[in-house]
Amino acid sequence: MQKKLLVVGSMNVDMVVKAERIPAPGETLLGGVFNQFYGGKGANQAVAAKTLFSQTSFCAACGTDAIGSDYLKYLKSKKMDISLVKRDKKEHTGVALITLDKSGENVITVAAGANLTLKPADMKAIDFNKFSHVAFQLETDLKTVAEGLKLAKKAGCTTILTPAPAQKLPQAMLKNVDFLLPNQHEILLIQDGFDCPVKAAENLLKQGVKNVIITLGAKGSMLVNADGKFEFGTFKTKRVDTVGAGDCFTGSLMAGLRRYNGDVQTAIKFATAAASLAVSKMGAQSFSPLKDVLKLAKLK
Ligand code: RIB
Repeated sequence: MQKKLLVVGSMNVDMVVKAERIPAPGETLLGGVFNQFYGGKGANQAVAAKTLFSQTSFCAACGTDAIGSDYLKYLKSKKMDISLVKRDKKEHTGVALITLDKSGENVITVAAGANLTLKPADMKAIDFNKFSHVAFQLETDLKTVAEGLKLAKKAGCTTILTPAPAQKLPQAMLKNVDFLLPNQHEILLIQDGFDCPVKAAENLLKQGVKNVIITLGAKGSMLVNADGKFEFGTFKTKRVDTVGAGDCFTGSLMAGLRRYNGDVQTAIKFATAAASLAVSKMGAQSFSPLKDVLKLAKLK
């Protein structure tokens, strides 16, 4: 049986208001266009991976409200395997309030709701042997993520963690992470005592992480692993909406690692092309098809 990709994580509905600039604390700002999109770091990664590698499953939790029902219908229409998505009767489906400024930059506030009802017991119920790669983020309870990483690693999966929203990570968790993908701010927040991203990455390697990929927005990314430090630029595209760009990078990296048999540098190039295309369209899940990604990355 061919092993699949799995993303464990959040699903939110994104309420996005475009504005001239990000408002200051205490300020009311008249914005412009309002849009509602499907989002959540987990779902964004899952849909990105599914767009580039068809055998992808998503494990999450949503409410029994209309937002949750609509979201699940949408994921089904994308032919996503949602057999591991549970519904919670008490909590609402996750919601994210987003302000997007004219340069495409954003601020996000999340009401996690049902996302936090995904528990370690839900991880124990997953047969991780069915999966080659598993990705997590931190809009899910930390204990659940720690349990999932442990079980996925035990089953021989390649594990990926996006430490966002950033919080301190327990050392015991780090040895179960093959790929850690913080941005340049998050890498300084997940452990104490560092003001240099590269030094922070090297310290994470000492604690058992195999590869750190620091995402640098429009500047690209940097891979730090036992072989050294490698920098990657982006591809030039129009920057319209950066919401979900990092998630697109992670989901596409997972698909790329699978497609290129673990060749990390090629997978990063593939993921960079996917994310460069994603920022040129509105919405956290506006991903381009495989043929466009391959063309931009000049890959087969
Ligand atoms: O990373 C972007 C995502 O963060 C948005 O889709 C929003 O839902 C929040 O989870």
